[in-house]
Amino acid sequence: MLETVQKVHDESRQGEAIAPNSGDSQTYAKKFYIESYGCQMNFNDSEIVASILNTQGFGATRNVEEADLVLLNTCSIREKAEQTVRQRLTEFKKTKQQKPHFLVGVLGCMAERLKSKFLEEEKLVDLVVGPDAYRTLPSLIEEAGTGQKAINVLLSREETYGDISPVRLDSNGVTAFVSIMRGCNNMCTFCVVPFTRGRERSRDPHSIMAEATDLFERGYREVTLLGQNVDSYYFVDEAGNETVTFARLMEKVAEISPLLRVRFSTSHPKDITDEVLHTMARHENICNYIHLPVQSGSTRILQLMNRTYTREWYLKKIDRIREILPGCAISTDVITGFCTETEEDHQDTLSVMEYAKYDLAYMFAYSERPGTLAARRYQDDVPEDVKKRRLAEIVALHRGHSLDSMRKDVGKTFKVLVEGTSKKSDTQLFGRTDHNKVAVFDKSDLRKGEYVMVKIDDCTAGTLIGTVVGRC
Ligand code: SAH
Ligand code: SF4
Ligand code: F3S
Repeated sequence: MLETVQKVHDESRQGEAIAPNSGDSQTYAKKFYIESYGCQMNFNDSEIVASILNTQGFGATRNVEEADLVLLNTCSIREKAEQTVRQRLTEFKKTKQQKPHFLVGVLGCMAERLKSKFLEEEKLVDLVVGPDAYRTLPSLIEEAGTGQKAINVLLSREETYGDISPVRLDSNGVTAFVSIMRGCNNMCTFCVVPFTRGRERSRDPHSIMAEATDLFERGYREVTLLGQNVDSYYFVDEAGNETVTFARLMEKVAEISPLLRVRFSTSHPKDITDEVLHTMARHENICNYIHLPVQSGSTRILQLMNRTYTREWYLKKIDRIREILPGCAISTDVITGFCTETEEDHQDTLSVMEYAKYDLAYMFAYSERPGTLAARRYQDDVPEDVKKRRLAEIVALHRGHSLDSMRKDVGKTFKVLVEGTSKKSDTQLFGRTDHNKVAVFDKSDLRKGEYVMVKIDDCTAGTLIGTVVGRC
């Protein structure tokens, strides 16, 4: 995801900002340029925004210079994420001076957090739109076009954009994200998301099924079901006749076709159920990969974070996953230097990592976010150099585990979904294993979207290098 992220073996993961690549901009009278920051849900929201803008005669462009409208879909998760956006806004200043009708809009979590303050602080911004207000973009753009400052940051208890078909930006035509819920009801004390995204709500399963089925029919072969806390997905229809849990939803998506791979993110350790794990075990096309953020290995810190589980409870969850899904890949998020964290707490985090031996980890130094419970209740008292040193220690420990995890795969054969041409060589393709590891192999006559059996000959810290030994 963001600044302190350690990308260990995910060559294909999107970078911090992605500009659009919708090839049909010619057919639209006006052009918009969008950059997305933060989590996958934000990237998916940009695709919803693109869909709304298309209906208003705006086509996507990758070239800021030819855009009439520039949108930054922003993230507030850590301070650095916000600084990046502020920096980016100053870069648009020149274009704005040259083109009087050029509009700049801020969308997403930073818009929600700063609200009208944004318009006051950043003179370069014409438009501020929160994550639940994208349907009002057309009227806001019109308003901004007349020189008024336009803003809508209302959060909603219902909005899921369920009926809007996202326009896939920068798509490889093989893998896609499908949002199944919005918001978050957990109040992890360090986290800004409940404030920027509002209350949790689950999207109608019929619209999720329709979107996933349509993707499959258009040649996509993998969907990732997205939510801040997917395991708490729960849909009850208006009549109260139909209830759908996450396990059931995932099963329904998996049943669209055995050729459609299903992934999901993120699971909160307190909510992932045996039913989810058994559903994964029953379906070969639900990938054996679980992102299970631990945040800290110290029960005392977990309590201060309001994660609602203890170290022991989390470790039992890891055991349970390994029992029901032997060999399942597990990844995590870790925060170092949360308020009052001692060396002993830090050692507890290292020992959880030693136990879990994560295949992949995203590791961050704690960044205090204004308005969060931690900012109000506790002092951000771990010095910056201590946070950095602890971060370096967990990164070093994890690097060893992830390398071991890669090396373990050498000599084995995996089913890989071909996603495209390798970034490093035109003569090679890349795809991912069930465990979400990137594998590269010779192109021959293979195509994107095909499944192949790849025997792994070698590896680097981030990539498996193999030979195709069969087609599926
Ligand atoms: N909903 C997901 C995570 C969302 S944010 C979950 O509950 O796991 C992604 C990650 O950013 C978090 O898991 C956490 O590790 C990190 N993060 C969130 N707030 C942070 C903060 N204030 N400082 C540093 N890292 C933070
Ligand atoms: Fe933030 Fe916690 Fe919600 Fe994740 S579960 S988005 S960390 S409040
Ligand atoms: Fe960032 Fe908002 Fe996602 S704060 S991580 S873009 S929900």
